[in-house]
Amino acid sequence: MAYLIGVDIGTSGTKTILIDPTGKVLASASAEYALYSPRPMWSEQEPTDWWNAVCETIRGVLSTSGVDTSEIAGIGLSGQMHGSVFLDANGQVLRRALLWNDQRTQAECDWITQTVGKERVVELISNPVLTGFTAGKIIWLRNHEPETYARVRKVLLPKDYVRFMLTGEYTTEVSDASGTALFNVRKRNWSEEMLGAIGIPLSWMAKSYESVEISGRISQSAAALTGLKPGTPVVGGGGDQAAGAVGNGIVKTGIVSSTVGTSGVVFAFSDEPVVDPALRLHTFCHAVPGKWHLMGVMLSAGGSLQWYRDTFCQPEKVVAGALGRDPYEIICAEAEKAPVGSEGCIFLPYLTGERAPHADPNARGVLFGITRRTDRTHAARAVLEGVAYGLADSFQIMDELKVPVEQVRASGGGARSAIWRGIQADVTGKTHVTINVDEGPALGVALLAGVGCGIYDTVAEACETTIKVRNSSAPSDRNHAIYSRYHRVYQSLYHSVKSEFSQVAEIVRDEHR
Ligand code: XUL
Repeated sequence: MAYLIGVDIGTSGTKTILIDPTGKVLASASAEYALYSPRPMWSEQEPTDWWNAVCETIRGVLSTSGVDTSEIAGIGLSGQMHGSVFLDANGQVLRRALLWNDQRTQAECDWITQTVGKERVVELISNPVLTGFTAGKIIWLRNHEPETYARVRKVLLPKDYVRFMLTGEYTTEVSDASGTALFNVRKRNWSEEMLGAIGIPLSWMAKSYESVEISGRISQSAAALTGLKPGTPVVGGGGDQAAGAVGNGIVKTGIVSSTVGTSGVVFAFSDEPVVDPALRLHTFCHAVPGKWHLMGVMLSAGGSLQWYRDTFCQPEKVVAGALGRDPYEIICAEAEKAPVGSEGCIFLPYLTGERAPHADPNARGVLFGITRRTDRTHAARAVLEGVAYGLADSFQIMDELKVPVEQVRASGGGARSAIWRGIQADVTGKTHVTINVDEGPALGVALLAGVGCGIYDTVAEACETTIKVRNSSAPSDRNHAIYSRYHRVYQSLYHSVKSEFSQVAEIVRDEHR
């Protein structure tokens, strides 16, 4: 039998799965690592931590499944997008990677946009230059750490650094490369004009493949560390959102996913690159060859609930421990006790700035409308609702752009809670379904590996073979009507405090200078 491995190098940890061609998960292993925030708005990780986690989890799935390594047909890699791994001429990591949710590069992004010209930027990369994207991070290094910059010879995305360690190849694929702000999304290749205009050598970029193509093979040294057979093919894989979309079966028009992990993403497939004229959504290459996607990315979706749990929910953690349950279940059960709309308590989930619909690194979280009656049930519900309002913003833009949304597939940690799923359906007014599998990006790239190795003919066939719709949460008309009113207030709140967000950011920056 031929087996497939999918590896997802996420922000909180790496998850690796081993599947058979029907999509059955025979083994799964995870390993966590640290996230560093040396200053407000900075977010970094140690690439070596990813590599150790990948070796550990691959060894883990091989030993749990007992599968003979000669039967591993292929491996797919997925990972957090946009991060910058700076390597020297010997392939050594020069500093910690700056991550997707790092917000330090506004000045550099403004400079790039000015240098290339705002309209030309959109013509070249189909997107604006945002702080999360890779280009600004490279220019930040040039401006702030010139000695390190002088030694850079390659800049890799997180999963592509792992690919380099596995195969010795400097390669990437189109979906992740789309998030660098240096890639011509329409032409599915590096934009030499963009790179040239801002002085970044093309030779620093990895060779780009379609996501299903074989981009390298397991080296002798990686085989010794992972237990894999030397020569095992590694396919392009995908940025976590495109890979997760494959793992959710988002491979044709009309089926849209809403994924709540640390970030919150509404993702739609498209046959052609569709660009939002107001640039609130991203237009990137899909992991399906020759196709694109449109997506709205919130930076703190599950991240908001995680912050709420870790900051305020010691009692819930104790109860969960005593009952052998997950603290999130207890928090969601509390939230269910509060009325729809949390009696006017509204949470703006901009804890790490925001991207869609407001590309604003200075945006902050807000808990608005507290009264003497507000208790932890209202606060918990307000957090769940605030994230759902943020997702609804992206759906609203897709409606404006006439992107068909016939079915919404809820996924990620946020889909596991029926209460939260119900809130998302009620807020958006769209039925949310769940599917039989819950492995997201790791499954997506295992399926892409299956296509690359000839087990499936197409990505669509891989998805049809393995993914089925299971539960469905239909919206309540009454709740949707209430939420529509609150959603309008939520939307205007951002504009009411936008200028104060910038003022506060300036004060904090001055204090940390
Ligand atoms: C996508 C994005 C996040 C990260 C981390 O644009 O920034 O989804 O990939 O998951």
